Amino acid sequence: MKRLVIAIDGPAASGKSTTAKLLAQRLGLLPVDTGAMYRAVTLRVLELGLDPHDEARVTEVARRLNIRQEFRDGTVRTFVDGRDVSEEIRTPEVTRWVSLVSSYRGVREAMVAQQRAMAARGGVVLEGRDIGTVVLPDADLKVFMKASAEERARRRLRELQEKGIPATFEEVLADIQRRDRLDSSRALSPLKKAEDAIEIDTTHLTIHEQVERILEELRRRGLDP
Ligand code: CDP
Repeated sequence: MKRLVIAIDGPAASGKSTTAKLLAQRLGLLPVDTGAMYRAVTLRVLELGLDPHDEARVTEVARRLNIRQEFRDGTVRTFVDGRDVSEEIRTPEVTRWVSLVSSYRGVREAMVAQQRAMAARGGVVLEGRDIGTVVLPDADLKVFMKASAEERARRRLRELQEKGIPATFEEVLADIQRRDRLDSSRALSPLKKAEDAIEIDTTHLTIHEQVERILEELRRRGLDP
C-alpha cells in the first residue's frame, strides 16, 4: 500500500512548519519544508553576488543546486551541496528576495521536480504555497492554514527574537503583507486554497488544537495509520 501523503499550504507564519513537524512525529512521516528550498536558492544567489532580478542566472543556480533535507531531533535541517544552511536561510536578506526568486518558472520547475521525487514513495508531509494545487494534486489530505496578518507577525517576531535577529513588529508585519501580496498575485502557482483542501484558521488555536483538527480529519477519512 502506498504510504500517506499530506499537503499543507498557507501564507507566511500561518503555522505550517510546526504543524508539519508535529504531524510527522505523530504519524512517522518525513516532513518537507518547500519554502526552505526556495530560500536555499535565494541564499546561493546572494552569496554568489548575483542580481536576484537576473532570471536566467538565478534559474541556472536553481537547476545546479543539490538540496537535501533531514528530519533530526524534531527539526528539519536543509543542506545545500552538503552544507547545513538551516540558519542562514532565515535571515531578513533572504526573506526579502525569496518571493521574487520563487516567482521564476525555471526555478519552480527545478524545485517541483525535486519535491515530487521526495514524495514519490509516500510517507511524507510537504508544506508550502502550491503543494495541494500544483505539486501534489493527488495528496491524501490537503490542508490550507491561515491566520490574521497581525497574529502571524507576532509569531514571526517571537521566532526572530529567539534567534537573536533584531526586528520590529512593524517591519515584520510589512514583510508578511508584502509577501502575501506577491505570493498570491503571481502568475505561476499562486498561493491559494485547493478546492478539496480543508481550511484551518489558526488565529485563535493552539498548536495542539490545530494538529488535533488534522488528526481528526484523517481518522474521519479512515487514513489514520
Ligand atoms: O517560513 P515562511 O512562512 O516565512 O515562508 P517559507 O515557507 O519559508 O517560504 C518562503 C517563500 O518561498 C514564500 O514567501 C514564497 O514566496 C516561496 N514559496 C513558494 O513560492 N512555494 C512554496 N511551495 C513554498 C515557498
